[in-house]
Amino acid sequence: MASRVYIIPLWLRLWHWTNAALMILLMASGFSLHFSDPDLPLIRFDIARTIHNVSGIALTVLYMAYLVWNTVSGNWRQYVPAASELISGLNAQNAYVASGIFKGAPPPTVPTPEKKFNVLQQATYLLVMYVAMPFLIVTGIAFFFPELAPEQLFGMDGLLPLAVAHYVIGFLLTLFLLGHIYMGTMGTTALAGFKMMITGWHDEHPGHAGQPPDRTGASPTSPTEGGKRA
Ligand code: HEM
Repeated sequence: MASRVYIIPLWLRLWHWTNAALMILLMASGFSLHFSDPDLPLIRFDIARTIHNVSGIALTVLYMAYLVWNTVSGNWRQYVPAASELISGLNAQNAYVASGIFKGAPPPTVPTPEKKFNVLQQATYLLVMYVAMPFLIVTGIAFFFPELAPEQLFGMDGLLPLAVAHYVIGFLLTLFLLGHIYMGTMGTTALAGFKMMITGWHDEHPGHAGQPPDRTGASPTSPTEGGKRA
């Protein structure tokens, strides 16, 4: 019989959806500020600027809280892929998303409280949360104080390198979000991942019943909070 396990604690779900809402506001207002014609704005310039500034500050505060919670709870360990698993885990995951899923095969990794993510998710979340987000936030804060930028840098306007860096990382995070939502449909059913991020419970794939948690040979990391089974 298929069972279920509680693996996403409430604080993480609250952080995740507030963060997602703020990122979408930042993307929409940032897109409007960067691309739309001042005479024909997607969102009126002063409104887009206020949305972008307020959401950016809220995202920064939320990110600080996430860093503290993620450290104290030990959840950060869930993002560290085991070196021994990098190649085999990626191969297994790629084979699953490229073909296995279309034949009804179960995902190669079974989420457990000790190891919630496959190696692709681990590497992605590590990069996104510990490299891309700090970079986005630092360049955004620096952009918030343009008067502190040098007049000229390497013969260019002093703000230009910062503007390009902030834009590029925002663009890459937008690509991440699209891929993230698509990959979210690759769980035991198309909606299982989204349901898990709302309820905290992961439903086991019927094909996994009675199997060991991880079939890619990975050693488990520290358990996250939760771990109730039903
Ligand atoms: C509409 C927007 C979003 C949706 C629908 C969504 C969906 C999901 C889903 C289904 C999962 C479960 C695990 C998985 O499938 O990989 C997840 C986990 C996660 N998402 Fe998102 N997500 C969104 C936005 C974001 C954004 C903007 C970020 C970061 C910038 C983000 C970062 C994460 C992280 C770090 C986890 C793992 C949480 C943990 O430690 O357990 N998500 N998301």
